[in-house]
Amino acid sequence: MTIPAIEVRDLKKSFGDVEAVRGVSFEVATGEVFGFLGPNGAGKTTTINMLCTLARPTSGAAYVAGHDSVSERDDVRRNIGLVFQDQTLDGYMTAEQNLRLHAELYGVESALVPARMEQVLRMVGLWERKDGGVMTFSGGMRRRLEIARGLMHSPRVLFLDEPTIGLDPQTRSSIWRYIRELKEREEITIFMTTHYMDEAEFCDRIAIMDNGLIVALDTPEALKAEVGADRVRIQTEDDDAAIAALAERFELEATLSEGAVTFFVPSGEEFVPRLFAELGVGIRSVSVSRPTLDDVFMSYTGSTIRDAEENTATARNRRVMQVMAGGRR
Ligand SMILES: Nc1ncnc2c1ncn2[C@@H]1O[C@H](COP(=O)(O)OP(=O)(O)OP(=O)(O)O)[C@@H](O)[C@H]1O
Ligand SMILES: [Mg+2]
Repeated sequence: MTIPAIEVRDLKKSFGDVEAVRGVSFEVATGEVFGFLGPNGAGKTTTINMLCTLARPTSGAAYVAGHDSVSERDDVRRNIGLVFQDQTLDGYMTAEQNLRLHAELYGVESALVPARMEQVLRMVGLWERKDGGVMTFSGGMRRRLEIARGLMHSPRVLFLDEPTIGLDPQTRSSIWRYIRELKEREEITIFMTTHYMDEAEFCDRIAIMDNGLIVALDTPEALKAEVGADRVRIQTEDDDAAIAALAERFELEATLSEGAVTFFVPSGEEFVPRLFAELGVGIRSVSVSRPTLDDVFMSYTGSTIRDAEENTATARNRRVMQVMAGGRR
């Protein structure tokens, strides 16, 4: 029997009155790419910090690579690689110096360092830039270098906290290419957080976290299938009247999200003609789509992830600007 790469049992963390993580349990198998998806403040980083031994759980337990995150801290640390949400490279050193320092901190045998360095730098496409000062790197290059650094000591579990935040779509997709390549090349388990729905699709399984709890956990396909209905979004002359009419005439529960009246029906295309005939409120536009992970999120939490984030948009903007400005620890 193989032990899971990560095992979490009723893990909780409070900061004073704030219950950041309110009791989560899950297992991650060796070799899995496991994603934590949720809006700002959901408790993703707090969970990662407990798994990585950087925060002590208020209660519950977490085992990483078979070791208890509290009583066997050093064993956990030896087995994990970390890429933090905020960047932590030393801008005054070159790429190579950053990796060398990390290898030293982790006690990598010095004879093994040059080959490993070349391997990880080539993987993230930075081998040619190894002598470049990190200060001269773009945000995407720094992120890639951080991933390379997290891999220097051949960890069994790699934790990535929002590895692509604030990056352009092209750089995001190239980082995902490295993650997939990594999964094929090394016997590694990847635990990552994101609030990009499209990225969560690349994970083998995802846990949707909201307000300190896991509200759903499955493969992206299974989660979407569970929604079991098409999403219809309409723009109307009077949204409140449209929501009331949908409830009254069709017994459908609709919500206003991202400026459109949104609801779910089993066969969207067939429903639309009836909608025009019977709604009794002027419709300006209509769109029908298959369920996405955003719909999964909405079906569990009642809001889209973007709407959920609007409340904390200021905090996020601050963080994005921080990353763009070169980061801060
Ligand atoms: N050190 C701390 N002291 C007090 N409260 C904290 C601390 N760290 C986190 N929190 C609170 O715990 C909650 C969860 O925060 P956490 O950073 O885990 O969220 P997150 O899901 O990572 O969000 P984001 O997407 O913004 O990174 C928030 O309400 C946050 O304010
Ligand atoms: Mg976070």
